[in-house]
Order: sequence, then structure tokens, then C-alpha cells
Amino acid sequence: MKPIIIKPCSGLKGIIRIPGDKSISHRAAILSALAKGKTEIKNFLFSDDCLVTLNTLKHLGVRVVTRPRLSEAVIISPGFLKKPSRFLNMGESGTSARMFLGLLAGQDFCSIIGGASSLLHRPMLRVLEPLRLMGACVRARKIKNDEFLPCEIFSNELHGFTWEQKVPSAQVKSAILLAGLFAKGVTSVVEPVRTRDHTERMLKLFGAQISIEHKTLRIRKSVLKSPGEIFVASDISSAAFFIVAALLIKNSKIILKNVSINPTRMGAIRVLKRMGAYIKVSLVKESFEPRADLEVCFSSLKGTIVKAREIPALIDELPILMVAASKAKGKTLFEGVGELRVKETDRIRSMEFNLLKLGVDIRVKSLKESENIEIQGADSFKGACLKSFADHRTAMSMIVAALSADTACSIDDVSCISKSFPQFLTLIKTSCCIS
Ligand code: S3P
Repeated sequence: MKPIIIKPCSGLKGIIRIPGDKSISHRAAILSALAKGKTEIKNFLFSDDCLVTLNTLKHLGVRVVTRPRLSEAVIISPGFLKKPSRFLNMGESGTSARMFLGLLAGQDFCSIIGGASSLLHRPMLRVLEPLRLMGACVRARKIKNDEFLPCEIFSNELHGFTWEQKVPSAQVKSAILLAGLFAKGVTSVVEPVRTRDHTERMLKLFGAQISIEHKTLRIRKSVLKSPGEIFVASDISSAAFFIVAALLIKNSKIILKNVSINPTRMGAIRVLKRMGAYIKVSLVKESFEPRADLEVCFSSLKGTIVKAREIPALIDELPILMVAASKAKGKTLFEGVGELRVKETDRIRSMEFNLLKLGVDIRVKSLKESENIEIQGADSFKGACLKSFADHRTAMSMIVAALSADTACSIDDVSCISKSFPQFLTLIKTSCCIS
């Protein structure tokens, strides 16, 4: 792909409809596949990662009808999964890989899951360890102290147990809960730091026997019942790129419709408000996942400290928050951001590389217990040749930075954006002028 050139923008305007939430779309499809009958998923996200989940379900004997123009996916399921006739390819989707590991561990057939080269480097032991303690029998590729795809999952009886999360991870929690649906007895997950709770909410919607008490989730073997129809709220992580663009670019005023305001995902909004952002949240519907319209206007931002305990609620927004911090008055400190090293790329490295190119004073401090990032805000970004590192969130963060730079910037390859937000360039072009 040829590099794209992004010219500075003089203001973002309009009403913007962000596509459906990636995490909720994955879960809606997977749980619909476990419930007998038909489930219509509205505002489903048709991105590369979510298509991986739909394709995998097809290989597991579930009928999937897609209407991408209407953002609708219909799942018609016999209520159980069938042995796949081939290996299951997770593409680049870490969420699909980890959730299917949990789901497939509890089936009465064997399966093999693999993925594209970027996914083959992402750590899987964090999921395999608790699953094995439940009785799962999985053979994976071992390198040093971790394990990686491809994985061979053998059929074995699972039993409940209690797992206390070491690394806060919604994907690991979800894999355990999905395995728990097929395990004997009670499966519990203790979360010292709360992570996104979409799986729990969706399981309740499908009538699973799940209870949540303080920091402990408990699930029992359950037969799921389809709610018939599910509406997926718009993705707050995708909205965050528009929010920060509007905050940084003078004369901006936008309204984002129907965005998910699940409290476990609102960390970035809380941090931006603390930095002085004008973001007005107007509730649209409570539902099983609350959603709201967000009004955002240009604001002058000031630096802040983002504590490690806040990270899980804004993990995917860290790259774009780093861009916001780079234009804020004073210093911003992000504490305990080490998990960024194991995302689609090492996002500490990709963001440090690009922000330095834009002339930002960014320092990465790798301490024994945690990694911190310190950014001294600057008045302006200088034009630069930027790199996506084949990572969707780095690419979109750099497009936003470029829109608010002094002169044009180039970005080497933005095809990776289709992983989570295929409409991003079109939407940003219509709300703000870029060539
Ligand atoms: C996700 C959980 C997070 C997040 C990822 C999606 C999910 O990953 O970064 O983009 O849908 O559960 P971790 O569970 O690894 O923190």
C-alpha cells in the first residue's frame, strides 16, 4: 500500500455514527451460536476481526447470514457446536483466539486453532493456564516461558475452580467463563482490578446462571436462550479517535450517536474530562449495555496522572490518549502500561517512535514492577513521516495527530485499520477535510 498524506484540518463538524462495538459484536455472535434458534444482531461490526469470529462459527456448524450494508448479522444455531472439518484460522484477532480457546476446551470434539503471523506472537499461556486447571487438554507451541498458537484442543471433561486474575484481562476472564458454561460445578473468576464486563452482561441476557458479587464472578453449566434480537452500541474505543480529534482541532464541534457508555470502558472519557475536555454525555438507553450521545468541542487540555488501576478501563485508548497528552499543557504520566507491549504491535515502541518524530518530549520508564510513560505536552506537532507498525490503533492515532499538526504528515500503511474500523477514513474525511 502507498503511504497516505494527511494535511492539517481546520475543524471537525457534524453528527457521526461510529460502527458497533468490537468486543460486544464478538460476544453477541459467540453466545448466539450457543443458543438454539435465530438471533438477529443489529449494528454488528463488520471488521476483519469480527468476521473471523463469524467465519469460525460457520466452521463449527452454525448458520450465519450477513447483511453488511444494514450492519446486521443473523445467527441460526442448532444450540450446540459441531466438530470442524478443518483448522480454525483466527486471522489477527486476539479476542477471537482467546475466547474460542475457552469455548472449544469444553466441547466433546477436538479442534486446532491457528492464526496470521502477528497473532502467532501473542501470548496464550495466560488463557491456557486457568483452562488447564479446569481440566482442559491443550497442546500449544512453547517458546521460553510462554505458549503460542497454533493450539490443538483435545476433548476433556471440565470442572469448576476459582481463578484469581494475575494480569487484568477481559479476554482471559471471558475464556474462563465460556469454559465454565460447559464445566461441572461452579467456576469463579476473581478480578482484583475490574476489566470490561461485556461477557457477563451478555451471558445474563442469554439467561446463563451467572452471579456477580463484589470482585467475584460465578458461573454454572447453563443452557442459553436467545433474546431474539441484540443491538450493539457504537464502539467507544473507535469514538475516542473522533473525540480527541475534536478536542485538539480548533473550531470543532461533533456529536457521536449511540456510543457505548459501559462504565468498564469509560476510562478515557474520565481522564479526558480531568484534563479539561468538554464532553457532554446524554443517555439514550440503559438496556443490557447503556448507550449515549456524546457532544465534544475543542478544549484546551492540561496534563494529568493516569494510575495503573485506571488502565484496564482505557487500555485500547492509550495510544490516542498519548496524542491528547502530547498537546496538553504540562506533563502527563501514564503508570503501569506494560500490557501495551503485547497488543497487535508493541504499542509503547510504536507510539514512542511516532511521537518523537512529531517533536514530542516522551520518555518511557521501564521499572521493575511496571512501565510508565511520561509526556511533556507541546503546542504543536511538526510534519513527519509516520509509521503504523501494522497496528490499527497506532495508525488511527497518527491520522488524528497529523490532522492537528502544523504541516502535512505521511503514514506508511493504514490498511490495518480494517481490523476494527473499516469506515474510519471515509468518516473522518466527511467530518473534516483531508486529502
Ligand atoms: C478485549 C480485551 C482487551 C482489549 C482488546 C479487546 C475484549 O484485551 O485490549 O482489544 O474484547 O475482551 P485484554 O483482555 O488482553 O486486556
